[in-house]
Amino acid sequence: MSTTTATGPHAARNVSETTETAKQNRVLTPRFYTTDFEAMNRIDVEPVREEWNALVQEFRDDSNSNHFERDEAFADEVNTNLPPALKKEFIDFMVSSVTAEFSGCVLYADIKKRATNADIRELMGYMARDESRHAGFINRALKDFGMDVDLGHLRRAKKYTFFKPKFIFYATYLSEKIGYARYITIFRHLEKHPEKRFHPIFRWFEQWCNDEFRHGEVFALFMRADPKLLEGRNRLWIRFFLNAVFATMYVRDHDRPEMHAAFGMDPTEYDYEVFRITSECTRQVFPMTLDLDNPKFHRALERLRRITVSMERARQQGGVIGAVKRAGLTVAACVGFARLYMVPTIPNELPAKVLTQPAW
Ligand SMILES: [Fe+2]
Ligand SMILES: [Fe+2]
Repeated sequence: MSTTTATGPHAARNVSETTETAKQNRVLTPRFYTTDFEAMNRIDVEPVREEWNALVQEFRDDSNSNHFERDEAFADEVNTNLPPALKKEFIDFMVSSVTAEFSGCVLYADIKKRATNADIRELMGYMARDESRHAGFINRALKDFGMDVDLGHLRRAKKYTFFKPKFIFYATYLSEKIGYARYITIFRHLEKHPEKRFHPIFRWFEQWCNDEFRHGEVFALFMRADPKLLEGRNRLWIRFFLNAVFATMYVRDHDRPEMHAAFGMDPTEYDYEVFRITSECTRQVFPMTLDLDNPKFHRALERLRRITVSMERARQQGGVIGAVKRAGLTVAACVGFARLYMVPTIPNELPAKVLTQPAW
């Protein structure tokens, strides 16, 4: 099999196909967000000023400034002739990852552009810097396979979902901490089983994940600076986001059997390890954690996964019958999510000190 490069004859077609995939908005694909920028500009970090200053200093120090460059071994380690099923899943994973990284970059850059609040402007600039490095690094790895995502086009053409600032806080905080937990879990696993590392990009994950960890700390401080975001009805929203984000990850990961087989990882075990690390992280800010050991929680996630598989089949079937099946399955998915949501949570008392260290 020959390898295709970005300059090969099919490069233009590949680029646009990959970009089209990244542009799609389905339930499980990464989205782009917009928000109430005026409200973002009014964020007041004074109640957590001391910790805020310490965190901003870390961003200024920029310990990863040289990290996102390839070393000499990188090119030799890239194998573009992976088995076709694995290659398809890996590319799908990379396209989804570059979209998620770039989604953060766009949101942080947009907030920075519209902010006059010096704290917010500076911080959002650093986070956009980090995410742009992450997206660029993945996109370059996609180019080795003859494809990449046209990020400029994506920025202009992808649909944006509006979220109120508090929902941005809950969702983005969780996605940063889950991003950390995912990257470090893969890195630690491949550290023990280097023969399973089928692409060099995984060597970058250890330092990379520290950026995501730090981004999560920013949102933890925003929420701890405004405690009403963690009380009353908002507790129901937090519970909703915890369940929704965990369920999305579970369903999406189980749709990549080849990649997990190549890693020598069981996707369920991997996901629960990521859930455990994420739950430990979220104790700095969320008033509850999900009961990961509850068999009802396990069963509810599995049910949602099976429903999603059937929905995808109905979507491919198309036609009236496919549509009817999908409508029925949508109801089943709502009921399934309600069951997951109803699994009792574990109360968590917030620590006095907010900032934590990436200790995994
Ligand atoms: Fe990132
Ligand atoms: Fe991030």
